[in-house]
Formats: sequence, C-alpha cells, structure tokens
Amino acid sequence: MWSSKPFSLQEIGIDGVYTIPTIPMIETSSITKYDAKKKTLLLKGHLRSTLVIEHEIDHGSYGNVYVAKRDETYVLVKQPRMDEMNLLQEAVLQHLAHKTLESEGLVGAIPKVYDVFSKGESVCFSMERIYGYSIPEWFFTTKTPDTDLLFLVAQLALILAVLETHLNLDHRDLKHGNLLVKKEPCLIKTSFQGHTWTLQSPFTVVVLDFGFACLGSEILRGKPLVNLGDGVLPPMDPCPKEGRDMFHLLTSLLGLPVLQQSLSKRLHEKVDAWLLLGKKSYGPMARRWSTENWSYLVSSQPDFAIPNCCPLRILQDLLPELKGALTRT
Ligand SMILES: Nc1ncnc2c1ncn2[C@@H]1O[C@H](COP(=O)(O)OP(=O)(O)O)[C@@H](O)[C@H]1O
Ligand SMILES: [Mg+2]
Repeated sequence: MWSSKPFSLQEIGIDGVYTIPTIPMIETSSITKYDAKKKTLLLKGHLRSTLVIEHEIDHGSYGNVYVAKRDETYVLVKQPRMDEMNLLQEAVLQHLAHKTLESEGLVGAIPKVYDVFSKGESVCFSMERIYGYSIPEWFFTTKTPDTDLLFLVAQLALILAVLETHLNLDHRDLKHGNLLVKKEPCLIKTSFQGHTWTLQSPFTVVVLDFGFACLGSEILRGKPLVNLGDGVLPPMDPCPKEGRDMFHLLTSLLGLPVLQQSLSKRLHEKVDAWLLLGKKSYGPMARRWSTENWSYLVSSQPDFAIPNCCPLRILQDLLPELKGALTRT
C-alpha cells in the first residue's frame, strides 16, 4: 500500500511529500512549531490550533505523557525524556499505522496523531486520549476471562496481520502495558491474503507506543527501512520477524498473576501450544519469569521466528473457538 507511493504528512503538521524510505530524512525544520507563550501550534507561519499543556499523567523511561487541551478537545502530548530523543519518526509510524488500519476496516485500534511539533529543543506529538482499562484492571473485573482472552488475541492478530501485510510493520514492544481496553464493542471487517475476516468483539483493544517499531520492505527483506529504538534494538534487526509481536504479547500476558490465576487449564494449554517452538515451550518460562525482558532478549536474535505465533495461524485456530463472532470468507 505505502511501499513506494509518495504521501503527504500535512495532516499531522509536517510539510512536504515523503515515501517510506525518506521517513528517516524528515527535517525538524519541516514540522509545526509550538509557541509556548502564545500557546499556539504554527506550521510555516499558519495557525494549526491552540495547545495548552496541563499536567503529567505518565513518567516513562522513554517519554513523558501530558494531558493537554487542543482547541476544544482534550488530547495527550508525548514528550521525549531527553531532548535528543526525537519522537518525530515514532509519530509518523503511529500515524501511518493508524491510517492503514482505518482504511482496512479497523477503526479505533490506535490513537490518532494530531500534530508533530518542536517545543524548544525537543520534538513532541499530540494524539487522541484513550479512556480505557489496563489489562490487569480488565481481567481483575471480568467474569469471562477465557473468552475475553480469545477476543483480545483475535483483535490483536487482525491488527498485526493488517499492519504486516500493508505496511511491513513490527511493533516490537507489544506488552500488556502498551495496550488499553475500551468497554465499547467493535465490529471489524478486513481482508488480507485472499480472505475477508470479520470479528464482533464485546470490547475494543487499543495499541499504544510505537517507540520501538520498525518498517521493513519486500525488496530489502531483512533490512529495516525505518528502525526505532536506537541503542536498544540492533540496527539491522530483520523486520518483520515471523510471529515476534504475538510472541511478546502472549508471554507478557502469561507473566500476569491475574491471568495465571483466572484462565482455565484448557486456555493455558491453548496459549502454550502457540508458544511452542520445536521442542521448546516458552509458556512455562513466561509464567516463571513474569517479566518481558527475557522474551525481548530471545526475539532479538537475528534468526528468531516462531511460526505458531503468526497472526494468520492464530486466527485459524480461533475460528472454532469464537464461532459466529469470528468468521472467514
Ligand atoms: N493515547 C493514549 N491514551 C491514553 N493513555 C495513554 C496514551 N498514550 C500513552 N498513554 C499512557 O501513558 C503510558 C506511557 O506511554 P507510552 O507511549 O507507552 O510511553 P513509553 O514509551 O514511555 O512507554 C502508557 O502506558 C499509557 O498508560
Ligand atoms: Mg510504553
């Protein structure tokens, strides 16, 4: 879809026309500027909106997140922890992922990006604020942990399959802390690799934090065109890697005590089957170690691949489980 096609980024406050390979070359001079005194966002001298930054809601290791008012709407602003950590490319990947999903029938799966802007020495971006539950909160209160887990995995498998098919994107940090759950039902209808899938889910999952994402290309298989997470992830990390994002997600979920305790034995066995690689079973390791670090280390090996975690394979497995709610034609 995007592979060599030029696209405008005007919608998110970046001047000029780009292609995927030129994303790393976008210059800070082409983006919107924040006037902290007047509380305005200006692109090439033209007013985009007002922006009043209020209070901090998250103080992460990579970014700080603030509540802000953009014209009449409450949004979130993500600012890098250090000025030299530029969030320009992260915002662009989140925007492309959001647009891709929206045009492929997956609305609301990623927060919409509003503006990429410079604020003093740092590059920040504003985005839609999601009012949702964290994964532990959700599973603490649900009465149907088994089916909820299946709906969660099904939604993420559809999101990942679309992002991989149309954008060659790997998120590379898909742990439960980068997800939120909205109590609104969602209806997904999307096509890839010759089939149309529909999913009717009682809740909506939202994927956050594209700070470690990568974009690969068909031509350069193995070499990423855009590679975020500088210094944390290897510069030549193959992108996409078969099953990586789902592997991170499932191992992260299994590390949560609330899920360990509430899922049935049958569901535990199902997840374990997805996490089987040859004779190696990652399920018991995930329960024992309960942090994501080891699974990130495993997947950073250049030849890492886990076919059982491929979104398509998982979706096929879910067809009989979510009969009626998940269909393929
Ligand atoms: N669009 C959003 N809506 C609601 N909460 C968000 C949004 N973006 C981030 N957050 C909250 O802020 C936290 C940190 O944001 P994240 O993008 O994951 O930054 P980091 O790179 O520091 O992990 C998230 O875990 C989530 O709780
Ligand atoms: Mg995060």
